[in-house]
Amino acid sequence: MRDTTLNFSGLHRTCSLVVLLCFLHIFVTVIYYVRNSDSKQAFVQNQQTPQIHRKLTEQKVTTEEPRAPQANAPLNVTEKLETCPDNPPRLVGPLRVEFSDPVTLDLVRSQNPELQLGGRFKPKDCIAQQKVAMIIPFRNRDEHLKYWLYYLHPILERQQLDYGVYVINQEGDGIFNRAKLLNIGYAEALKEYDYDCFVFSDVDLIPMDDRNIYKCFSQPRHLSVSMDKFGFRLPYTQYFGGVSSLSKTQYLKINGFPNNYWGWGGEDDDIFNRISSKGMSISRPDGMIGRCRMIRHERDKKNDPNPQRFDRIAHTRQTMAGDGINSLKYKVVKVEKDQLFTKITVDVGNP
Ligand code: BGC
Repeated sequence: MRDTTLNFSGLHRTCSLVVLLCFLHIFVTVIYYVRNSDSKQAFVQNQQTPQIHRKLTEQKVTTEEPRAPQANAPLNVTEKLETCPDNPPRLVGPLRVEFSDPVTLDLVRSQNPELQLGGRFKPKDCIAQQKVAMIIPFRNRDEHLKYWLYYLHPILERQQLDYGVYVINQEGDGIFNRAKLLNIGYAEALKEYDYDCFVFSDVDLIPMDDRNIYKCFSQPRHLSVSMDKFGFRLPYTQYFGGVSSLSKTQYLKINGFPNNYWGWGGEDDDIFNRISSKGMSISRPDGMIGRCRMIRHERDKKNDPNPQRFDRIAHTRQTMAGDGINSLKYKVVKVEKDQLFTKITVDVGNP
């Protein structure tokens, strides 16, 4: 009997222990479950936070969007425009340039409806950084001029320049004087508009990359740095021919260009000498961006190599103060305004 009682009490204790363990197990499971569900909740919240933030940000952007102007509210557009960026957004980079298909002025006019009379343009969506006069020395090169206008206008528009094109046409059939025509272009363009930069371009040179911006830099700029004619490299380090740009300040510092280089050659070397004698250096785009094509042609009549050029180049420092924009003399014969350019025919005189 005693044994049975003992057995029962042992069994009772064991059962109580098992029940206790069961409760403990249930308790631990509940605690674990609760804690786990808390952290899950926190995880979900963390995942949602950026989305919520994004929604808020989006809302903020939405509320900041400009409202459409009311029909009769006056809007001063110029007040709202910002200066155009350093890197114009519509540039495309390398361009295909070829001269096999003929172009007509009518085609170029129809492709550039934004141009104002005289080959003038300014961007609509921002204020151009510079006012640039494009000066082209010219005589009897109408076919080349068409290509220049065909390729350059769209490029210059994408470059967001406030610009005008001036074709300076030497009258008659005397000896050609490129540098004097450039000086005349400078003087005539300034009579029309407050230009602060001047690009001097031969009519037969077309840039092959629109990132070669036809504007002015802190130093005089040589823009036609790798021409197909020279195997896409500089013919010599001091070469400053083809296409170049000078700000008004830089141009005046060197007293403009020489007026007494008659015939082909040397005037660009004289300009280089002027620039370096005034302590300035030449800035250039890199060789890939500065690639350009020249339209092949025979040497022009009355533009034979100037035999005096070597002697003149050797004396730039002595002559530049008395020969330049301060001694320029010419007569305007005719001014013609086209949608694509201003053509100024001039009498440059004789050697
Ligand atoms: C002439 C320059 C010319 C260059 C490249 C030089 O000898 O003096 O006027 O631009 O050759 O043809």
